[in-house]
Amino acid sequence: MHNVEQVLENRILQLSFNRLERKNAITAEMYGALAQALDKANSDPAVRVVLMTGQPGIFTSGNDIQDFLENPPTGIQSPVFRFLDALSHLEKPLVAAVDGLAVGVGTTLLLHCDLVYATPEARFQLPFVNLGLVPEAASSLLLPQIAGYQRAAEMLLLGEVFSAEQALTAGLVNAIVPSHQLLEHALGIAHKLVERPAQALRLTKCLLKQPYLSQIEQVMQAEGELFIRQLTSPEAKEAFAAFIEKRKPDFSKLG
Ligand code: COA
Repeated sequence: MHNVEQVLENRILQLSFNRLERKNAITAEMYGALAQALDKANSDPAVRVVLMTGQPGIFTSGNDIQDFLENPPTGIQSPVFRFLDALSHLEKPLVAAVDGLAVGVGTTLLLHCDLVYATPEARFQLPFVNLGLVPEAASSLLLPQIAGYQRAAEMLLLGEVFSAEQALTAGLVNAIVPSHQLLEHALGIAHKLVERPAQALRLTKCLLKQPYLSQIEQVMQAEGELFIRQLTSPEAKEAFAAFIEKRKPDFSKLG
């Protein structure tokens, strides 16, 4: 069983995180598989719509912290950045269905989706600062655009968990759907998109995204450089050690 399941049915490519024993934490290998799948979806006429999802009760706990320590990204060609690049360049509609926790990149990837559905039990978190890191996926640009500056600052500076209702109010989510209907609902929406004329759909998505694309690339690059630098900072080392040792981090002795 792969950690990223890929099912192409009725012209909908469904990509599902499937690594329940680690709360669907995403490894470099998984980022690589996702990047490849999204790039391929762009050029494959058999794919009209992409749907990203997790498992009932968990979307993803974000970057795999252990894997990040053992296999850190070193540059723009690293799998995590290849994934983010592929995500921002996907020309076909991208729908997300979120149940349970969506941590870190689990929330920032939603900023690149066209339609997002979440259950009342969905929980979102951008804990980068708490890990001694900085935002990624151009979230420092896109989140204030979508949610407004004050909300974005609250989410990124405090890094606290927020609810599906808060995500809806902030504009991160299109609708809240009961968990037993989530997948069916998201697939139903994806199916509607499949029935729309493909060329017009693609052009419309391009028109929506194009004005921001070069800015997104620049911001992703700037964030990526800082992210890689912060990964080896004393702050991140303390945060990661605390996670692995299952204790609260102590940043009080660091500048
Ligand atoms: N990276 C690596 N391992 C992770 C992980 C992650 N992001 N998220 C969960 N895991 C592991 C846990 O260490 C645990 O491993 P163990 O069974 O060997 O102890 C296992 O997955 C189950 O997680 P657990 O913490 O027991 O589940 P929980 O329901 O109590 O809490 C979370 C779930 C997601 C709240 C918690 O695991 C967490 O805070 N994870 C880190 C999230 C994070 O900071 N992500 C990085 C964003 S950049």
